[in-house]
Amino acid sequence: MAGSTIETLPSPAAEYIRDIDRALEAYLDDRNDYPGQLLEAMRYSLMAGGKRLRPLLVLLSAKVCGSDPRAAMPAACAIEMIHTYSLIHDDLPAMDDDDMRRGKPSCHAAFGESTAILAGDALLTLAFEVMAKDIQPPATAAACCVALASAAGAANMVGGQVDDLAQESAGADADRSLEMLESIHRRKTGAMLTTSLQLGGLVAGASQQKIEQLDNYGRNLGLAFQIVDDLLDCQGDESQLGKRTQKDSERGKLTFPSLMGVEASRERAAGLITRATDAARSLGEGAEPLVALAEFVLNRNR
Ligand code: IPE
Ligand code: IPE
Ligand code: MG
Ligand code: MG
Ligand code: MG
Repeated sequence: MAGSTIETLPSPAAEYIRDIDRALEAYLDDRNDYPGQLLEAMRYSLMAGGKRLRPLLVLLSAKVCGSDPRAAMPAACAIEMIHTYSLIHDDLPAMDDDDMRRGKPSCHAAFGESTAILAGDALLTLAFEVMAKDIQPPATAAACCVALASAAGAANMVGGQVDDLAQESAGADADRSLEMLESIHRRKTGAMLTTSLQLGGLVAGASQQKIEQLDNYGRNLGLAFQIVDDLLDCQGDESQLGKRTQKDSERGKLTFPSLMGVEASRERAAGLITRATDAARSLGEGAEPLVALAEFVLNRNR
């Protein structure tokens, strides 16, 4: 089953991805108040052809919790803006130093480092403007802002990125335990995926039980997602992936394949996806798209 693409996901994924792309475009339309070069860099990275996995999770989660997914579109756009900012900064020479992203030159390679840093800053800030202004009622907007700030901040994504980079420079003193690895992956990647599901639930006013089931799905999916990202760095095809491969071993990153080997990593990811699909099925009717998405995460080639 190797080689699934997001385009092959069953309905309504493709329609949702089209809607997400349109909504993201609209947020950058007619921004004559942004410096032209900055706006160009923001649009370049945001519209470069990401899989839109996180915003898709937001909309699918809102739907499975009984809401009109359109109500969750501002939250979906916001998390994709933050994710894109995180990729722009992740590629900078001071971080992973990658010159290719989403099949094109990285933002800093195309626009220079200072513009790339500022385009990331601007996407991060815009995400909160969009949610605070466009999610109704205001109490739900506030709850979504708190959840996303927590996922993207020092306790999660930014903190995970710090420890990911610290591993490279720690040399012989590095803590290369499975606990450290799982903690890095949960914070740098997992939290944004679990929070995508939580945002959909918040907009839908979901029950505590549904939120917990979504969280169980998201935690398993999130770790599997980053294990597969680590595997694709070892075994993937650059032109399909749209980013460089073999970078993690070159930089001495702590990854699943480096710690336990390719076979055991793949088994681990498969086991997590089984748990995720069980959790999705426990959500009852309407959860099939979440099951299909979990299977895609395991079998993806980009
Ligand atoms: C890449 O995320 C960065 C990680 C968190 C591993 P994606 O694989 O979702 O990247 P895009 O959005 O499709 O480009
Ligand atoms: C990036 O992880 C995670 C975030 C951007 C928060 P990686 O560094 O493994 O992502 P890729 O492989 O460059 O996409
Ligand atoms: Mg990185
Ligand atoms: Mg990277
Ligand atoms: Mg990676």
